[in-house]
Amino acid sequence: MRPAIRAATPDDMPALVALDKVCFGLMTWSTVAWMTEFERLSEDRVILVADEGGAVGYVVLLVPSVVEDPVDLLRIAVGPAERRTGIGGQLMTAALQRCSGRTVLLEVAAGNESAGALYRGYGFEEISRRRGYYAGGEDAVIMQWREKAS
Ligand SMILES: CC(C)(COP(=O)(O)OP(=O)(O)OC[C@H]1O[C@@H](n2cnc3c(N)ncnc32)[C@H](O)[C@@H]1OP(=O)(O)O)[C@@H](O)C(=O)NCCC(=O)NCCS
Repeated sequence: MRPAIRAATPDDMPALVALDKVCFGLMTWSTVAWMTEFERLSEDRVILVADEGGAVGYVVLLVPSVVEDPVDLLRIAVGPAERRTGIGGQLMTAALQRCSGRTVLLEVAAGNESAGALYRGYGFEEISRRRGYYAGGEDAVIMQWREKAS
């Protein structure tokens, strides 16, 4: 069964907090940080959930109201047991559909091969690096997506 991709509601917060812990470990967002994300749903955040009778993945976007300003893809994750089944791609497709005509930026650890491959596969290109940005000295790669003219 392929999960449905839908907009998050406040009821999703506990499940996303739990899934985020599993997916990001020490880099998890705190409950307070997630509360801020959900509070901003009415302002500039879009949170999409991959729902398979429960949340199995999510993507968080910062979508400024000024359309010339780039969208930031803040986070995307899929539960470990569901990876490599296309859910990350489903989330990315749905996220980029919402970014039609805009530029999307994201930041990824240079060694995060699964995320890097996902992003490149969806047309993101490296535009710069922050050397030694992460604890442990790993580079952060800044990637950009622009809708291809049809
Ligand atoms: C990155 C992540 C969201 C991918 O989700 P996913 O559901 O496994 O992705 P998909 O199954 O849709 O894969 C889509 C494509 O991404 C690439 N990809 C995904 N995982 C990969 C891996 N482990 N190795 C190489 N390529 C990979 C492949 O090109 C894949 O296409 P393919 O399966 O046809 O080869 C998932 O690995 C994850 O949650 N990682 C932990 C959280 C994280 O690091 N998030 C990004 C930083 S915010």
